Amino acid sequence: MKNKYDPISKKVPHFLHGADYNPDQWLKYPEILEEDIRLMKLANCNVMSVGIFAWSTLEPEEGKFNFEWLDEVIDRLYKNGIYTILATPSGARPAWMAQKYPEVLRVGPNRVRNLFGERHNHCYTSPIYREKVRIMNTNLAERYSKHPGVIMWHVSNEYGGECHCDLCQEAFRSWLKDKYGTLDNLNHAWWTPFWSHTYTDWSQIESPAPHGENLVHGLNLDWKRFVTHQTVDFFKHEIKPLKKINPELPVTTNFMGVYEGLDYWKFVDFLDVVSWDNYPRWHQTEDDSDLACQDSMVHDLNRSLKGGKPFMLMESTPSMTNWMAVSKLKRPGMHLLSSIQAVAHGSDTVQYFQWRKSRGCSEKLHGAVVDHCGHENNRVFRDVQEVGETLKKLDEVIGTTVKPEVAIIFDWENRWAMKDAKGPRNIGIHYEETVVSNYKPFWKNGIPVDVINMDCDFSKYKLLIAPMLYMVRPGVAERIEEFVKNGGTFVATYWSGIVNETDLCFLGGFPGPLRKVLGIWAEEIDALYDGEERLVSFNEDNELGLKGDYKASELCDLIHLEGARSLATYKEDFYAGRPALTVNDFEKGRSYYIASRNEEKFNDMFYGKLIQELNLRKTVDTELPHGVTAQMRTDGENDYVFLMNFGNKESTVTLDNFDYTDLLTGEKASKEVKLPVYGLKILKRKAKQNS
Ligand code: GLA
Ligand code: ZN
Repeated sequence: MKNKYDPISKKVPHFLHGADYNPDQWLKYPEILEEDIRLMKLANCNVMSVGIFAWSTLEPEEGKFNFEWLDEVIDRLYKNGIYTILATPSGARPAWMAQKYPEVLRVGPNRVRNLFGERHNHCYTSPIYREKVRIMNTNLAERYSKHPGVIMWHVSNEYGGECHCDLCQEAFRSWLKDKYGTLDNLNHAWWTPFWSHTYTDWSQIESPAPHGENLVHGLNLDWKRFVTHQTVDFFKHEIKPLKKINPELPVTTNFMGVYEGLDYWKFVDFLDVVSWDNYPRWHQTEDDSDLACQDSMVHDLNRSLKGGKPFMLMESTPSMTNWMAVSKLKRPGMHLLSSIQAVAHGSDTVQYFQWRKSRGCSEKLHGAVVDHCGHENNRVFRDVQEVGETLKKLDEVIGTTVKPEVAIIFDWENRWAMKDAKGPRNIGIHYEETVVSNYKPFWKNGIPVDVINMDCDFSKYKLLIAPMLYMVRPGVAERIEEFVKNGGTFVATYWSGIVNETDLCFLGGFPGPLRKVLGIWAEEIDALYDGEERLVSFNEDNELGLKGDYKASELCDLIHLEGARSLATYKEDFYAGRPALTVNDFEKGRSYYIASRNEEKFNDMFYGKLIQELNLRKTVDTELPHGVTAQMRTDGENDYVFLMNFGNKESTVTLDNFDYTDLLTGEKASKEVKLPVYGLKILKRKAKQNS
């Protein structure tokens, strides 16, 4: 049955292709604003994100608004077939505001208030800032939210950072009061008798500070939660007047991938579409496939945030950035490939930062569609044109989704807690890398994966992987048990089931509440220095049929079997002979426990076996060459298959027995698909029975 999401805007049933557009920087150059339109059409752009940092132009003096220039810009774009994604300008406030109301400026963890400057330098709590934002957003919504050319709101820009001002301290305390009710509960949850930190009055509580408290882990964790809460609250405050005036106009805010400071899962109920800004460091190494795999995972996360709904690639650079240590140019082919990579994982847009290079200030040398030369006769412009031409042929892909059988848990609170813990390896616990290394075998095999957090519904998956689930929030272990009981396969690793939701260690044996489903007890964990390795061997005749040795490094859990069976054994050190990989039957399903951090070869072998045993659906039933992945989107009737070569060699993919059409040429695809370096193919086939 055909099943599709609506396009992001019903007004534009096409891929959105465009850029951040900052005409407010160019008002003194009317000829350039005119020329922009010609170039936008030539670049096959149909959308621009306008006004992101335009506050000082929109409200040059307190209460004096100037919208005429914006009227003109939006009208001109619309008349030329280009839609506007309109921004609220809260990401940077004007100088007059900071001067008159210093409370709008951010205070650092050292309790020093910032001076006016830069951007993203505002307090999320300040009633004055909130009121100024309310007035601005109301004005914008009244004036533009019903304009036929405006298709969505780009709320603020890359929310991030934190403020430690007195207003934020008070808000933090009242958030804590709501959460804990009594100081006694808080003192217990934070284990404050430790080092005599018991609080006897709410007013004694302060946000973590380098010169004050920063070792009460429960406090650190709750502060991070509060920062997310307060930012989401600010976001809701921004949206309110927009939705009041036109509830139909969708809202997004641009995320920053796996930015650590905000738990993006807490935003998803309040936005209509997920969008994110993607700046991978291409060409850092000879072969881009590792980076491509990491980046694919972040695209998958952004799709999973709203349960599979297509997302937006809100920003990417058409050529280079200017803020990396080394800002390398994208090699020929990479611009199209990395743009289509986003599409393959569920993006319905390809957008850039930015349309035209600024003439001055800190982004004057950042890549843009239009360079300082001001014309279209250059490589980058042609690359952008090519993306636009390609997207025009993909209309039928709009609204299709990805339906993975595999999910991997990447959880912000778990990450915060684990990285803050003083534990076995303070020189690098490597949570993010571990999640990627468990994701990678699926990427190499072209098997779609959802990237979820521990609160998501597990029931739609066959395989659930939870690398380093250090924190287990209430109810999660029960939901994992339920999943396995019903036939699911669960994989956990070392350093799991250590603490509860306020970072208190589980009593009675690790992995705490996961002990039953895994059928093991983790008695101790050995940490190794960088460069140290321990040999592990698969047991003879183990039931997975895996053979040989592999190397463990960094963390080796010393476990006891409590119902589970051993599949591999440590061969070295005083724990030689102890189990290093186990399986536990649990009603209709099974759970595996990987006790050590292992080399890539192990993950390839182990997950390769699970892929076979669980009969996990590969996008194309074939062996993929190194550096090549296959991803797919589907509407239930047709599958859209994306073959992408991130390796540094030309490769050939042998297709399976389905009939494939090349979506870009309309021709029947040949069985052997040749992919040059950074080459790609977009193929269409009738949906497989089980997809
Ligand atoms: C971020 C911002 C943009 C711009 C780019 C530069 O993503 O949102 O305004 O500064 O970085 O890469
Ligand atoms: Zn503040």
